[in-house]
Amino acid sequence: MITLAIDTSCDDTSIAILEIQDSRFKVKSNVVSSQVKVHKKYGGVYPTLAKREHQKNLVQVLNNALKNAQFLNKFQKSKVNIQNHPLNLKKLKKILEREKNLYPKLRGFLKKYQKPKIDVIAVTKGPGLEPCLWVGVNFAKALAFSWDLPIIPVNHIEGHIFANLVGKCQMSKFKCQIFPAICLIVSGGHSQLILMRKIGSYRIIGETRDDAAGECFDKTARILGLGYPGGPAIADAAAKCQKNGREQFSVKLPRPMINSKDYDFSFSGLKTAVLYDFKKRPKKVRVSKEYTKEMAKEIQQAIIDVLIKKTVKAAKDYKAKTIMLGGGVAANNELRKQLNYKLKTINYKLKFLVPPKNLCTDNAAMIGLTAYFNRKISSKKWQKIEVIANLRINE
Ligand code: KG4
Ligand code: ZN
Repeated sequence: MITLAIDTSCDDTSIAILEIQDSRFKVKSNVVSSQVKVHKKYGGVYPTLAKREHQKNLVQVLNNALKNAQFLNKFQKSKVNIQNHPLNLKKLKKILEREKNLYPKLRGFLKKYQKPKIDVIAVTKGPGLEPCLWVGVNFAKALAFSWDLPIIPVNHIEGHIFANLVGKCQMSKFKCQIFPAICLIVSGGHSQLILMRKIGSYRIIGETRDDAAGECFDKTARILGLGYPGGPAIADAAAKCQKNGREQFSVKLPRPMINSKDYDFSFSGLKTAVLYDFKKRPKKVRVSKEYTKEMAKEIQQAIIDVLIKKTVKAAKDYKAKTIMLGGGVAANNELRKQLNYKLKTINYKLKFLVPPKNLCTDNAAMIGLTAYFNRKISSKKWQKIEVIANLRINE
């Protein structure tokens, strides 16, 4: 099965091509076009701006993904192509009527290149930013129509879970020995603890009651005047913090809900505590590198402490065999290191899976692999596929 997967759930435009045979798989290409430069000046993602960028980027990203997989072949002049089918163009235009910038680009592409050796198209249908999700879904429909292919709609959070298996080549090894698993999915939009009893069986046992962990990194980085995205900026500043015992001030932040009996999180209070601390400092301190580094380290540690405490509690309570990490925040070095260390101290047999960093943040390879496990819902009746911005992963 050769899958072309698309993810436009937030501010990354991504297309991947995966080949899966006898439960062995190969990522033939995984192209991610980041919009960071566009959103940097606003300190966060603007959905309408992100939608416009997806419309601008998708055809180029498709081109690159097919090229990297060696699937990009021009039409020979003598062959019949879409130019000879005006009716098709009319329908194509209709499918992309809400994505006006996309239509002329895709039309040009389809006139130039042959249908690639693809069996199915996978696309993220949610959760995510609604206008962004629609661009990806409409693009998938336009390709499915032009190339006469089925579509598999995919849940983005399930994608973040399966990112743990993308690098593992052979899936059969992971079928039973790893369950039950506790998945900690922490991104810019989500912070969830998910109990996974088997592939396709999920229960959200805890989640954030307000801001997501990534959102907390982004918002507090903004207060400190660090760049966007805030997670990597805070992690970099924190890594430079070397205490020598002669500090003129210290920063102590709360660990919200760390001792609550449930598995929920809350990060908005942490952001407020950072703001209060920042405001009460004299300007000289606020703008100093020492303060920024110390505050960054404390923010990162406060988030990590809560995430680890709740994950370990869930692992113990549900007798988990595996812990899986996923989402952009899972790219955080300290979180990876400290969680790994903690799990080793409580149970040597507990497996700890974490994707390579480029597969923690949004990418389409994880969507392609997830689609393989959902291949039964592959359908040529894709006309009715809808976006669900707040889609939940559940049994
Ligand atoms: O999964 P993702 O790429 O997109 C969403 O689905 O939201 O996650 C993006 C989030 C951002 O909030 C970003 O600040 C955070 O992941 N992030 C990090 C790191 N790299 C990205 N947070 C902490 N440490 C990092 N190294
Ligand atoms: Zn994500």
